[in-house]
Amino acid sequence: MLLQITHQDLTSLNTLGLRAYANAFLRYDSHAHLSELSDVACDYPAVFILGGGSNVVLAPALDCLVIKVESRGIAIVSETDREVIVEAYAGEVWHDFVASCLAQGWNGLENLALIPGTVGAAPVQNIGAYGVELDQRFHSLVVWDMATKQLLEMSAADCQFSYRNSFFKRAEPGRWLIVKVRFSFKRDWQPVIDYPDLQQHPVLQKAGASVMASQIFDAVCEIRRKKLPDSSVMGNAGSFFKNPVVSGDVFSDIKARFPGLVAYPQAGGDYKLAAGWLIDQAGWKGRRLGPVGVHERQALVLVNHGGATAHDIESLADAIRIDVADRFGVRLDQEPVIVDDRLRDT
Ligand code: EPU
Repeated sequence: MLLQITHQDLTSLNTLGLRAYANAFLRYDSHAHLSELSDVACDYPAVFILGGGSNVVLAPALDCLVIKVESRGIAIVSETDREVIVEAYAGEVWHDFVASCLAQGWNGLENLALIPGTVGAAPVQNIGAYGVELDQRFHSLVVWDMATKQLLEMSAADCQFSYRNSFFKRAEPGRWLIVKVRFSFKRDWQPVIDYPDLQQHPVLQKAGASVMASQIFDAVCEIRRKKLPDSSVMGNAGSFFKNPVVSGDVFSDIKARFPGLVAYPQAGGDYKLAAGWLIDQAGWKGRRLGPVGVHERQALVLVNHGGATAHDIESLADAIRIDVADRFGVRLDQEPVIVDDRLRDT
């Protein structure tokens, strides 16, 4: 057997920095080991596939097999005068991948700079920021079916992308291991700078129509660094809640009661509400509950002040959810996935 199974402290392998431990852990770095991976997995009640650990709430002790994806490599799949298709292995660090694409002149991912995590995790929650979502740049992906031991190719339609959601979020946990993801970079790149934070950025304003992708990349990095805590300094998982989508009637009702409500109209008459605004208005910004709290500059981000466990973060999330539901009548859904023994039952 080539794959080594060990015990592993996961505290430094999740960006929230929650205290967690895996009783069975292995690192996967080559697709040559996929078949063996499936064989090994049969000995465990469940499997959890871990990327950069930036979107997970890990229970203190995990009995499932934790597979840490560390496969690397970036290559051109095809090139025409219209587009370049590039594939990256799942273990590539997302931000480094975005930066190396720009260095090659492959523009299109610059708005997604500095999102934590790996390439393989990016399609799972269809990452998005500053007016761009992954599915707009996605070509296809290759996935290993752990159960049937098959490599399959999936198109965007197969992945069923929507706001922070995809087929993989609803699928049987641990069954699908994303091997590599392919992106389409158009030669006639168009900047996306209509998000308010970008519109107001002085460098982008000055550049106007001749703005370069590298300038957008730099602006996004600067904005994110200002607003969002660095997980190496203060544990966090980015936005902890999704922005809830409500009907036009529900929106009008809340807006009448809270005129300052921040919301974005969606196709079909629905509205996406800024969850950060709701949580902020409810007075949670900067508040602490034991070792965890709400970030002082961005109410959507929950932080670990040190030594927290999944229980601490879930208690805080529940308190916020209940308060927001009481005040506004809106249900907040969590972004990070809870990883615990319940994996077995789902
Ligand atoms: N707001 C407040 N108080 C706060 C936070 C936000 O009033 O504490 C208001 C802001 O003033 C603004 C509105 O809420 O009017 C929206 O805030 P922001 O532009 O910061 O974006 P967001 O909706 O909070 C989303 C994504 C982020 C992404 C940014 C930029 C979700 C759940 N979050 O945040 O994604 O970086 O837009 O596109 O969709 C992530 O998913 O981890 C993440 C960081």
